[in-house]
Amino acid sequence: MDVIHTIEALQARLRTAGPVAFVPTMGNLHAGHLALVRSAREHGACVVVSIFVNPLQFGPTEDFQTYPRTLDADCAQLKQAGVDVVFAPSVAEMYPTPQQVEIIPPPIASELCGAFRPGHFQGVTTVVAKLFNIVQPAVAVFGKKDYQQLFVIRAMVRELNFPLRVIGAETLRAEDGLALSSRNGYLSAQDRQAAPRLYRALCNIADQLKSGGRDYVDLEGTARRELESNGWRVDYVSVRDPNTLLPPIEGLNQYVVLCAAWLSATRLIDNIEVSIDRAGSV
Ligand code: PAJ
Repeated sequence: MDVIHTIEALQARLRTAGPVAFVPTMGNLHAGHLALVRSAREHGACVVVSIFVNPLQFGPTEDFQTYPRTLDADCAQLKQAGVDVVFAPSVAEMYPTPQQVEIIPPPIASELCGAFRPGHFQGVTTVVAKLFNIVQPAVAVFGKKDYQQLFVIRAMVRELNFPLRVIGAETLRAEDGLALSSRNGYLSAQDRQAAPRLYRALCNIADQLKSGGRDYVDLEGTARRELESNGWRVDYVSVRDPNTLLPPIEGLNQYVVLCAAWLSATRLIDNIEVSIDRAGSV
């Protein structure tokens, strides 16, 4: 496995590598990232993983400075997982001059997480577009854990005609249901114990939808109150149409329920897809 820090060296390495399957990350890797790598291995001859904590997607009061940077441990895991190339550029390599050209994401990027993290998705689309141009993959794999991110990137690839296929990989969870995340490492032991409540709240809404509940506002409000009465600060709980990420219209048989909420100083996000089995309904 080659660990490469410059664009020039990466492009020289990839010149003869054949089709690339690409997994962009910010490092501090866990089993969720490794599941993406497995999916990439199924899709491309040469698997490239990038590790880059992208300043553009962090707000001024967010955790850019403290985000865990664990390159050596990450590379050990990636080598074990059969990755061919790790691309770990510096900020100066990616942004040698202030980035003045950015990709404007679609309007949906101002809702849900975007409403609480202004500019976040513009930072994501910009760095992912740069990485796509640098790596030129045939396939890129993103996790459904960041559902809105996956949606926005799919829109960018479609509308800007990036010549690659985007694969969405299922969310990997701990045994108690908590979605794996680099930010889980910020949780105290007590908060880690409380954290699965977020996924349980989503599962409750999914159950209600499956048994015919359609008062979305009520379902969202109940989940929010349940979390808040257990010490969470809720940014949003929202039932959406997975095809548009907009609030659902009547007669839909697929939903995605998304949420973001804080435990102490840690913001967690999660989501669940729900399919209504028409055959079973009256
Ligand atoms: P990062 O948070 O490191 O995540 C990298 C990829 O891993 C994303 O596609 C994310 O959805 C996926 N992932 C994270 N946790 C997961 C889990 N529990 N199960 C499955 N997949 C999971 O997302 C980013 O980095 C950045 O925004 C990036 C796209 C790299 C742009 O900077």
